[in-house]
Amino acid sequence: MWTSALQLVFIGFYLQVPTCYPSCTFYGLVANCPSRNHYWVPTLPPNITHLYLQMNFISEINSSSLRNYDHLQQLDLGMQKVPLVLRNNAFLRQRKLTTLVLGSNIGLQMEPRAFAGLFLSLAANRFYCDCNLESFLKWLNVTNVTFASPTEEYRCEFPAALQNLPLGNFSRVIEPCGEDDAKAIQDLQLALFIFNAVLVITVILSGFIYARLRGHIFIIYKTIVGRVLEGPKPNLPVDEVQYDAFLSFSENDYGWVEAALLKKLDNQFSEENLFRCCFEARDFLPGEDHLTNIRDAIWSSRKTVCVVSKEFLKDGWCLEAFTLAQGRMLEELTDVLVMVVVGKMAHYQLMKYQAVRAFVQRREYLTWPEDPQDLEWFYERLVSKILKDTKVKKFAEDQPEPAQPDAQTQEEEGIQLENIGPIPCQL
Ligand SMILES: *[C@@H]1O[C@H](CO)[C@@H](O)[C@H](O)[C@H]1NC(C)=O
Ligand SMILES: *[C@@H]1O[C@H](CO)[C@@H](O)[C@H](O)[C@H]1NC(C)=O
Ligand SMILES: *[C@@H]1O[C@H](CO)[C@@H](O)[C@H](O)[C@H]1NC(C)=O
Ligand SMILES: *[C@@H]1O[C@H](CO)[C@@H](O)[C@H](O)[C@H]1NC(C)=O
Ligand SMILES: *[C@@H]1O[C@H](CO)[C@@H](O)[C@H](O)[C@H]1NC(C)=O
Repeated sequence: MWTSALQLVFIGFYLQVPTCYPSCTFYGLVANCPSRNHYWVPTLPPNITHLYLQMNFISEINSSSLRNYDHLQQLDLGMQKVPLVLRNNAFLRQRKLTTLVLGSNIGLQMEPRAFAGLFLSLAANRFYCDCNLESFLKWLNVTNVTFASPTEEYRCEFPAALQNLPLGNFSRVIEPCGEDDAKAIQDLQLALFIFNAVLVITVILSGFIYARLRGHIFIIYKTIVGRVLEGPKPNLPVDEVQYDAFLSFSENDYGWVEAALLKKLDNQFSEENLFRCCFEARDFLPGEDHLTNIRDAIWSSRKTVCVVSKEFLKDGWCLEAFTLAQGRMLEELTDVLVMVVVGKMAHYQLMKYQAVRAFVQRREYLTWPEDPQDLEWFYERLVSKILKDTKVKKFAEDQPEPAQPDAQTQEEEGIQLENIGPIPCQL
């Protein structure tokens, strides 16, 4: 019983302190309450001597706000987050007040008799003479508070151009804070906002357009360029070669190649097409040796287009054609070989074959697009590659080597450790 009673008292005491003065810290008679979200002067013990209320939301000090605190010696009301108004007779009873801090209050207003009853010295202030001082000067002009030193002695401290100018002289030249500046800043903010919004929208739109509409835009671009330039269709260079392009592909890919490439390129499939193409099923001489046929096709065509698919890589003749065309390329130093990679193919699959690897590593090749809207662009590049005769550079490592049909069997048997090592020179 006795212990429970004691505990109750203790809890009551413990609860009492924070509920009465919840947001001030006391050190004897010093009340410290900065940044505690006070909207008016809090209720505190009447005998306090120091009261620190900076950085709160106090908007008014009137004759009743500090009525209870007769013993105040120091009062800090600086840096309020809202405009502060000092009403008449606000400090009437603070006879002992020696320091009153009002610094850094934006829009501070003082009624003429706000400091009635105080013996005021403003000599320690360093006045910043700009348009914000206007309300203070007005107050100074109308107040009849007694000052410790004559107000005529107050001088501007800043800015440098006005240093030591008496406040009285400054009050004759002061210009009210222009709304021009505020308006200019507002306009600037608006312009900045619009600019940012436009920028963000542009970035998003360009991403969207690229992802969804690039194919259409390319076609429109081609149409416009075609209309504007209206030049004759590109003339094929007239020369003695029999074919424009030899298409080398695996027999198993014939259906696809016919639909995707021949119908778009070969002039026997459609009148609109530019090229005389050559491919095994139609143009090889029956009865002739296959290798001779391939060699003839390569040398009597301006370009060799290799359609590199999984089937192509399995086909020894195709690889042979690739190697021969590459040999011709290195001999004539023009890019007679055009490589088109078709179907999902991992890079390592291409790299397994010596001839293909050398090409993939150093030359540009075309890839059949996954997105149908990129088709137009692909054809455009393919046609221009067939038309153009670009010189190629010879790389030191470009060694035309015979295709290695056995590479494939090796790979199917799995990796053999003894085969790892420097590739033996084949001469
Ligand atoms: C100040 O007032 C409080 C109560 O209001 C009292 O408890 C305290 O003893 C007083 N301090 C002094 C030094 O008078
Ligand atoms: C002084 O201000 C407080 C709150 O800001 C208000 O409640 C009170 O009525 C005011 N007193 C006078 C005399 O204006
Ligand atoms: C100061 O008061 C006088 C009259 O008392 C007036 O003529 C003068 O314009 C005032 N100056 C300012 C800056 O308000
Ligand atoms: C100046 O102060 C006195 C007494 O403090 C007062 O009677 C008088 O009305 C005040 N004058 C003005 C213009 O406020
Ligand atoms: C301030 O104004 C007075 C006359 O009103 C003039 O005599 C004095 O030279 C001025 N002071 C300065 C620093 O301009």
